[in-house]
Amino acid sequence: MSQRKFAWDPIETASIDELRSLQLKRLQSTLQHAYRNSPVYRAKFDAAGVHPDDCRSLADLAKFPFTTKKDLRESYPFGMFAVPREQCVRIHASSGTTGKPTVVGYTRNDIETWAGLVARSIRAAGARPGDMVHVSYGYGLFTGGLGAHYGAERLGLTVVPFGGGQTERQVQLIQDFKPDIIMVTPSYMLAIAEEFERQGLNPADASLRIGIFGAEPWTNDMRRAIEQRMGLDAVDIYGLSEVIGPGVASECVLAKDGPTIWEDHFYPEIIDPDTGELLPDGEVGELVFTSLTKEALPVIRYRTRDLTRLLPGSTRTMRRMEKITGRSDDMMIVRGVNVFPTQVEELILRRPELTPHYQCILRRNGPMDDLLVVVETRPDVSPDSLAARAAAKQLQHEIKAYVGTSVEIELRPEGGVERSLGKAKRVLDQRPKTP
Ligand code: DLL
Repeated sequence: MSQRKFAWDPIETASIDELRSLQLKRLQSTLQHAYRNSPVYRAKFDAAGVHPDDCRSLADLAKFPFTTKKDLRESYPFGMFAVPREQCVRIHASSGTTGKPTVVGYTRNDIETWAGLVARSIRAAGARPGDMVHVSYGYGLFTGGLGAHYGAERLGLTVVPFGGGQTERQVQLIQDFKPDIIMVTPSYMLAIAEEFERQGLNPADASLRIGIFGAEPWTNDMRRAIEQRMGLDAVDIYGLSEVIGPGVASECVLAKDGPTIWEDHFYPEIIDPDTGELLPDGEVGELVFTSLTKEALPVIRYRTRDLTRLLPGSTRTMRRMEKITGRSDDMMIVRGVNVFPTQVEELILRRPELTPHYQCILRRNGPMDDLLVVVETRPDVSPDSLAARAAAKQLQHEIKAYVGTSVEIELRPEGGVERSLGKAKRVLDQRPKTP
């Protein structure tokens, strides 16, 4: 244990007082930096009647206005940057479903900070210098691939920068190179596992010891299913491009109890998504982040739209967030009941006849919305078999009992639900657009 601790950053186990005082110092300087150097923040602070000098304690942060994706879109592409574009060594962007992408920038120091935090995250997952990591997060404008890559190199790992896709070759290289670690979305991990099996290989026999999964919501049941099938420890890494990318928070393999937020660089708050009111630790609401060290694109009270709650630190001084089970964008309202795809996922995973390849299809049925859950049966179970039909009935019953709404279930054979190469699309909205 002492050796393990030796490898941690000292701040990971500092006293709460030390952490809070570092946060306040960094928060004050971030607010000054944003106000002085980003016209967008200056205008927002002025409109709200606040000035960086008004921040004398961490609680004063609540006086400052929120930042949203809309602010970033309206200042597309570089309008919110707080340094001249020439000082950015990297740009990333998130695609977004409609309209313009959200563009983010990094100074050299920002890249250093980010690499350090991803290295910390990978180490928390149980990796050690000298391990080999296979990166299947997409490279390019998405922060997943390059974010993982720089962090892994920083920790002293051998990186295989595969990226997404070419699933057959992914399996071949994992077999040939024998990496210790894989970094990939949980849904694409399943597609890789399937490819192993298609080739007649047992994925649990592969060299992989640790999987660092994120970029999309996944349940603890999914964790157990992946761990069993792949024979590895599965940990959760969280992040978003607006805040920095992967490595805003990450789970410790010793506890697997929700990602520890790297609070020395990102200050978390939970708010009521409807009123914006600050909620106490332990209550579920929308996660909001303020960056404490970022130069190119400081974010002040950025609304993530992710729903979770803050939990006390366990293996570290910093607080944890509960594993994210929903994103307000993915919330479906079915006959007046709020439904998240992860709630459906949890129940699907309890039925041995079914696989975690599923999609929720929202349809309009007369005046009502209804939900069709499309799910694949296991390769050795025909969707028409009695066993499969009984499983579908049971699933329908459990969704009604635990989630509180009636849904239709459609069973499909293997391959009937599209595989993701990155983030899975769990909700398909087929309702007619209202003008
Ligand atoms: O997905 C960054 C990332 C890459 C994180 C690789 C982890 C691993 P964006 O494309 O900007 O960035 O999407 C961010 O993805 O607001 C969440 O809704 C979701 N998300 C990310 N990580 C997790 C996670 C990257 N571990 C959005 N659990 C976030 C649940 C996650 N949702």
